[in-house]
Amino acid sequence: MQQLMMVLKAALLPLAMAAAMIEVQAADVRPSVPYVPTPQAVVDRMLAMGRVTAQDYLIDLGSGDGRIVVTAAKKFGTRGFGVDLNPVRISEANDSARRNNVTDKVTFYQRDLFETDLTQATVITMYLLPRVNIALRPKLLELKPGTRLVSHDFDMGDWKADELVRMDAADKFSGAGGDSDIYLWIVPARIAGAWRVQLPVSGKPQNYEVSFEQQFQQISGTARVNGRAVKIEGAKLRGDELTFSFAAEVNGGAVKHEFNGRVSGNEMTGQVALSGSRMAARVEWNAERAARTAAIPPVAGERNTVY
Ligand SMILES: C[S@@+](CC[C@H](N)C(=O)[O-])C[C@H]1O[C@@H](n2cnc3c(N)ncnc32)[C@H](O)[C@@H]1O
Repeated sequence: MQQLMMVLKAALLPLAMAAAMIEVQAADVRPSVPYVPTPQAVVDRMLAMGRVTAQDYLIDLGSGDGRIVVTAAKKFGTRGFGVDLNPVRISEANDSARRNNVTDKVTFYQRDLFETDLTQATVITMYLLPRVNIALRPKLLELKPGTRLVSHDFDMGDWKADELVRMDAADKFSGAGGDSDIYLWIVPARIAGAWRVQLPVSGKPQNYEVSFEQQFQQISGTARVNGRAVKIEGAKLRGDELTFSFAAEVNGGAVKHEFNGRVSGNEMTGQVALSGSRMAARVEWNAERAARTAAIPPVAGERNTVY
């Protein structure tokens, strides 16, 4: 059913393509996506799903009349910019920023979204097309871990969304109505490979090795404790926040280890709850990438790539 909706939505957008092409001919540029504005109620929901605040920097890719960037600035004080190829849209967006008194917070650039530096973003919004999302994916995966990506109606192929909401959108397609899907992804830290973990158990320093496999935000792995391999359970990665657990024999007794922490490049730090028949403690842990995987694995947006 969801596939069918995607196909219908992808089919409806190109109907607007002809009109959009005529509009931009003056600027002699071809948009990757036609202009179809996001209904205001959907804009509000996108910003809520992206947990947008005054601390964020939001970039809307293909910003149309600027409504997403302007709404974020007006409602939350968020700074940011929009890019659009169409000069008519840029002029509408600048007018909107002036009317809403947010010109100190937002800017609109007539620019190709594929040529735009996104590194400043903490939130990216998009209402593009599936093939455009897929083309953008490698660049999006390189953004700071924790960056939120919010897409109206279109997914990112085999990079499954962290959250998906469907809502009525009565004023969509110039009032023709319909529903809207909103997808949220959180850019995951790259943790694939081996890590050396250090923590004190009963006051004695312990060194473990943990190895993770990663497919986007999905992770799994094994830990090696005193020469024995144990399966990692319940591993979750949300941006740079990591949780996982395993049970292993330490100092002669079985000990459950429940880790949580943050990933920062080649390091991880956090706390681990230790529990067993002879102990219950909460201690600090840290980890660094093992020498053989010292380099952060390269990002590749291709199917089935573990990165
Ligand atoms: C579906 S509209 C979305 C507008 C706005 N983001 C919203 O949600 O209301 C897509 C916009 O992307 C712009 N666009 C298409 N291809 C682009 C490209 N390669 N670079 C920049 N803008 C582009 C179009 O001109 C259009 O305004």
